[in-house]
Amino acid sequence: MTPVSAPITPHAKDTPFCMPLSEALTRIDRTFGIDTILADEGRDIISPYYIQSELGYNRVHSQKGCMHIALNENGQFDPDGYLTQGREVAAQIQATRAKKVLELGSGMGFNTLALAPDHPDVHFTGLDLMAHHIKTATKNAADLKNVDFQQGSYEAVPESLFGVDVIFGIETLCYASDLDNVARQIAAALVPGGRFVMYDGFRRADFHSAPPDVITAARLFEVTTAVTNGFWQIEDWEAALVRAGLVILRSDDITDHSIAGMRVLQRRSAKFFKSWKYRMLRHVMPKYLIRNAVGGLTGPYMIEGAGPRSGDTQACLTYSVLIAEKPV
Ligand SMILES: C[S@@+](CC[C@H](N)C(=O)[O-])C[C@H]1O[C@@H](n2cnc3c(N)ncnc32)[C@H](O)[C@@H]1O
Repeated sequence: MTPVSAPITPHAKDTPFCMPLSEALTRIDRTFGIDTILADEGRDIISPYYIQSELGYNRVHSQKGCMHIALNENGQFDPDGYLTQGREVAAQIQATRAKKVLELGSGMGFNTLALAPDHPDVHFTGLDLMAHHIKTATKNAADLKNVDFQQGSYEAVPESLFGVDVIFGIETLCYASDLDNVARQIAAALVPGGRFVMYDGFRRADFHSAPPDVITAARLFEVTTAVTNGFWQIEDWEAALVRAGLVILRSDDITDHSIAGMRVLQRRSAKFFKSWKYRMLRHVMPKYLIRNAVGGLTGPYMIEGAGPRSGDTQACLTYSVLIAEKPV
């Protein structure tokens, strides 16, 4: 483990971030212990993480059930950016003249619930691992006739859901354990000419050549969002989809669009680390819930590097979009 002994500078004005990376790591280490957090690497904590984090996603992240990052192309945060991913899915629905759409890892249903009212002739199904997400999504879909949510894993997509025109997954396929298996199921579930859309974080191919502190920030982000095996590389996904018989239509690094949203989450998280009153919460709140503050604080460094003033702008993760098609 890299030693983190940098002094804390409470009024760090020399950085675009809330605090320099060295200070952020020092604060995280003092509050939680970096080694203690990283001890979860490789462990399957998805279920306890999402059960414990429900309050955080609802109260801190988005009160509308959105569980992904906002994408703002102009670099200014606007909550409308939470709809960006869904707009791309809408374009693919239009391009394929879709009648059936499947969302993998639909969470509390934000994307499907945003798309369904504008596409009354399309049937949407959301599939998610967590029973409480399905319950919330189903409740929110009460007024919609063209939507259903089912509990299940995209590692074993029920055959009853096959025959869809568009499949999409927003910030969920990072949890896949066997890419070939998931890619084969996506290919099997799509009709010929059908399209697959995914948005997610990815480790850059040169991940391990990033500065040690930036890598530590990324590993902390991964573990505190339950991606305990680390994000996949986009090249891994592209290869798995091609092996499954799909054709890649688009693979774009859109990290820049995620920066404003990441910095908003960082500012919210920094409050926790800077106030002793907030820090006291860690003694009474579930550990995976409270550790979301670590993910929020570290996010910008892993996609932007430690910052221009530190002389280090080498990042190790991207936020990217991947679109593939099943040939006719
Ligand atoms: C970060 S949330 C994103 C939710 C939603 N896509 C959104 O944009 O709001 C990730 C979701 O993936 C789900 N998930 C994780 N592993 C899964 C699996 N193997 N099968 C289905 N859902 C899974 C989690 O339960 C969680 O709801």
